[in-house]
Amino acid sequence: METLSIEVPLFSQSPAQGISHPLPVVASDGNVYFLKNFKISNGDVYDAMFFQESLSIQLAQELNIPVPDWAIIQVDIETLNYFPELQFQYKLEPGKYYATKKIDNVANDLIALLNEEAIHRTRGAAQKLNNIFNKITNKNDIPRILLLDFWLSNIDRFTNSGNLILKIDNLGNYLIAIDFGHCFFGPCWDKNTQDNFSEIINAVKIGNIRQLSANLTNAYLNLANNHMQKEWKLGIVFDHLQKQILFDNGNPFEPIMSKINSITTSQIISMLNKIPANWIVGGSDQKSLYLQYLNAQKIILPDLIQYQAEQNIFTNFNGGSLEWQKEKNTNTQ
Ligand SMILES: Nc1ncnc2c1ncn2[C@@H]1O[C@H](COP(=O)(O)OP(=O)(O)OP(=O)(O)O)[C@@H](O)[C@H]1O
Ligand SMILES: [Mg+2]
Repeated sequence: METLSIEVPLFSQSPAQGISHPLPVVASDGNVYFLKNFKISNGDVYDAMFFQESLSIQLAQELNIPVPDWAIIQVDIETLNYFPELQFQYKLEPGKYYATKKIDNVANDLIALLNEEAIHRTRGAAQKLNNIFNKITNKNDIPRILLLDFWLSNIDRFTNSGNLILKIDNLGNYLIAIDFGHCFFGPCWDKNTQDNFSEIINAVKIGNIRQLSANLTNAYLNLANNHMQKEWKLGIVFDHLQKQILFDNGNPFEPIMSKINSITTSQIISMLNKIPANWIVGGSDQKSLYLQYLNAQKIILPDLIQYQAEQNIFTNFNGGSLEWQKEKNTNTQ
């Protein structure tokens, strides 16, 4: 993959949303990108963020899930000297940064309305939100995005209004998923992530799937509760999305589950090999554990969805057992 550099930073266009405050820049290919930083303004370092963003977006692209294009942007000393704000305000250092290509014509009212309903409980916000979600033209992508999020254990989609964007065109609202930095239980390569991975890998080995479905669902419920979003079950964003999923014509998650099952281990390895070495703080151990996690977690997904449907988390579910195609074993390829 080609590595780009910064032509001109667009400081005045930096979005208010998000804690890493990605910076829009014109890159050396002439396109505008949102450049992210793994050093957060409060001093935290998200040492798995770029690794996770770049792995997740490649998986999303392989599954034809709508996401922006991504790029590696090299920041050098000359650029830092030329634009001192990059160093002093945005805390950039020489090195490679993760960036996504800017999506144009994004509706800001989605974020504002979700925040109004979740935080301020403004009257009428829920109805306006329903209208916006009803006008989504790619509703088929909703179960696809959600299943990807469950596969990747994304803990920053269902409660966070800033991680889905709506591109407005003459047909309606087109939903696009961004920000995979908090997949895999969080943005750091730490003991917590490694323990969670090991628990899943071991539970799958011994066939303890239903317990895992319950534990994972409870973890999402707790997260929503911590965000004061208990009334929306897994979160306000999740709840507005799930309302659009219909179960009348078979299992809406089946097509994307089949696609996930068709991704081979060697495909994932080649995605891991596209990630710059200095984004992988845990080296080959980290790559290997993520691969094992992905192969284990995909085995849980059908039961996880069935369990959540039974818990009334998908409100259009009509009862019964969801049908899944028998999984082909791709792990050995
Ligand atoms: N490719 C893009 N096109 C258009 N807008 C974008 C794009 N990437 C980011 N944005 C805008 O920037 C905001 C923040 O981006 P993003 O969610 O990726 O970063 P973040 O939330 O700061 O990251 P994190 O908190 O995970 O470190 C988004 O809510 C969106 O408004
Ligand atoms: Mg975000």
